[in-house]
Amino acid sequence: MSLTALQASTYLHHLHFGSPAPEQLSKWYATAMDMQVESLSGDLWLTTGPARLVLFSKGEAKKLSHAGFAVRDAESLQGLRERAEQMGLTPRSVETPLFQPGAFGVTDPDGNAIFFGLTKSPPVKVGKAIRGPIQHLTLATCDVQAIEDFYAGKLGFGVSDRVVNEHGKVMTCFMRGNHEHHNLACFLQDRQGVDHHSYEAGEWDTIRDWSDHFASQDIQLFWGPGRHGPGNNLFIFIEDPDGNWIEVSAELEVVHDRPVKIWPHQERTLNLWGRGVLRTKG
Ligand SMILES: [Fe+2]
Repeated sequence: MSLTALQASTYLHHLHFGSPAPEQLSKWYATAMDMQVESLSGDLWLTTGPARLVLFSKGEAKKLSHAGFAVRDAESLQGLRERAEQMGLTPRSVETPLFQPGAFGVTDPDGNAIFFGLTKSPPVKVGKAIRGPIQHLTLATCDVQAIEDFYAGKLGFGVSDRVVNEHGKVMTCFMRGNHEHHNLACFLQDRQGVDHHSYEAGEWDTIRDWSDHFASQDIQLFWGPGRHGPGNNLFIFIEDPDGNWIEVSAELEVVHDRPVKIWPHQERTLNLWGRGVLRTKG
């Protein structure tokens, strides 16, 4: 039986980034994002924290090697694969050390590889670390409509919100594979790739703890603290040495079912609170 991403209860499980210096970058993440680092093979590095997993290998900076989305169970995985086949997406079998055998991958209109699979259990156990499960991926794209058509129209992610400019052009689309307001989004830019990825701290006090942690590492916040309009989440942003933007978020809206909200686009402004401002640089 064919199932949508929403019916399959899809969530962001891990990311795999390219980097000109993957060893150094993985070690930076281990320190900055309070994770452990290990070498899996020649140039493949894994950083691990509680419910956060990021792979790095040799490649172009700020380019995704793949994004790994987990689904609820084997029936959900089969159902989503059937839907992808029906929609002509040509799902292919893929392997990653972070999913059980049987994962499949599709390629979006911008060339991003998206894997769907079942997480290996039990989850990787790590020591005490600041709370922040990996939670959403935001793509940069020159064609928001094509990305929405692919993920929402074909794979069946739900659309939560759109940000529209004064001419009616969609600038941003927020999509969800489960109850989280977005675990996937795309921003209109003049390039393709990753805009940012985010870790969900859950509550404001944990944003404080992350901010203290970043300060102890001499890592500057480049945006925030603030509160987004779409998703209503609190946020801070930092930047990794490759230029990837990292968000730590809290209080992200829970969406069970509701009509799509339309937000007015606003240019970047420093630290407006709850006004739908989406970024300050880039
Ligand atoms: Fe975000």
